[in-house]
Amino acid sequence: MSQAAAVSEQRQWDRLMAMARIGAIPGDGVNRACLTELDRRARRLLIGWANEIGASATVDAAANLWLRREGTDPRAAAVVTGSHMDTQPNGGRFDGIYGVIAGLEALTALHDAGTTLRRPIDVVAWTNEEGGRFAPGCMGSMAWSGCRRVEEFADVVDPDNVRFADALDAHLAAEADLPRRTLGSQPHAYVEAHIEQGPRLEALGRDIGIVTGIQGSRWFTVTLTGETAHAGTTPLALRRDAVQDMVRAIAALNALMHDPNDVLRFTVGRIVVEPNTSNSVANRASFTIDLRHPDKDVLLARGDAVAGVVQAAVRDAGVMVQETFHALPVAFSPLVIDAVERAAAEHRYGHLRLASGAFHDAQFVVPVCPTGMIFVPCRKGISHNPAEYAEPSQLAAGTRVLAHVLAELGNG
Ligand code: GLV
Ligand code: MN
Ligand code: MN
Repeated sequence: MSQAAAVSEQRQWDRLMAMARIGAIPGDGVNRACLTELDRRARRLLIGWANEIGASATVDAAANLWLRREGTDPRAAAVVTGSHMDTQPNGGRFDGIYGVIAGLEALTALHDAGTTLRRPIDVVAWTNEEGGRFAPGCMGSMAWSGCRRVEEFADVVDPDNVRFADALDAHLAAEADLPRRTLGSQPHAYVEAHIEQGPRLEALGRDIGIVTGIQGSRWFTVTLTGETAHAGTTPLALRRDAVQDMVRAIAALNALMHDPNDVLRFTVGRIVVEPNTSNSVANRASFTIDLRHPDKDVLLARGDAVAGVVQAAVRDAGVMVQETFHALPVAFSPLVIDAVERAAAEHRYGHLRLASGAFHDAQFVVPVCPTGMIFVPCRKGISHNPAEYAEPSQLAAGTRVLAHVLAELGNG
């Protein structure tokens, strides 16, 4: 039996549904923020399944969790697969966790098929890909790749004012029984499976997306400081209203980000107003900007213009603009792209080359080793939404392609 034939659609689906119960929210969604008790429960469940096939678990200083199936050559660099286990606050059952469960299913299939490989295979669950609790996302993969130091994130706070460093320390203390692995390594290759999170594969009736790269992203937090005042008595001319200036700033940013071709993505997704009461003028308004574009020059030019445009638009408030995330567009490696395409063709899955609109941990692995991704369709492209759904058979198809690719690269 080949490793692809040993992939079990049912086992993978059951594991995804077991994971979906950890942090379940109404409407089939999941809210499992990173470095929480729910995150730890999900990791323990994963480690238990990995131990059943003799894979060992280790953790690094950024709390990235690593599951290893040994190869025959102790000196050979590993092939790494995986994704993330944290979700958006209103997340679905597949974003991230599919790539981790698919990695484990592929390892299990290699085990069940009795396939020995020269290289070790590592399944990694990266810490805080979503950035939903601590911004920005991809902290674990950025720290591992050396793009940022984990200490740089120490003072980032969650909405309850918990510092990232404190959440990380508490988490590592709870996982003190796991052997520590050094942060950073030099794998032979990295391949990450993920739902597409867009509508193209479904619309074109294809099972497998061969991902060619990822568009660039920049995140900013804009903080406007005015002065609180009585809503019934303070004449408009005497106000320094942070909310009114926020409205002016967002209108000006909409004009800056206008793209008649609808390629540029501009989102204001989080707004915090203080004191946030109906009969007081706001003294503080902060909002996030999520800007994405596949062209580096456009991404840099529009992003670099943010601070000036906000400054020019506001009337009364003080302005502070902080950039919290800066990920340039990346192109994936032909080594992985071609291996994924060969595997999809061999299994007769309809496939398509496409670029990713979402960012992924794979973006930060690109400078370290040959990297690529496998996408599977998701219903209507819906994601970051409890209604996110992917067909069990298409999730299994992605995992068969992954198992095939791991077997090929694992002997390469
Ligand atoms: C990942 O979650 C993204 O926002 O692209
Ligand atoms: Mn994801
Ligand atoms: Mn996501």
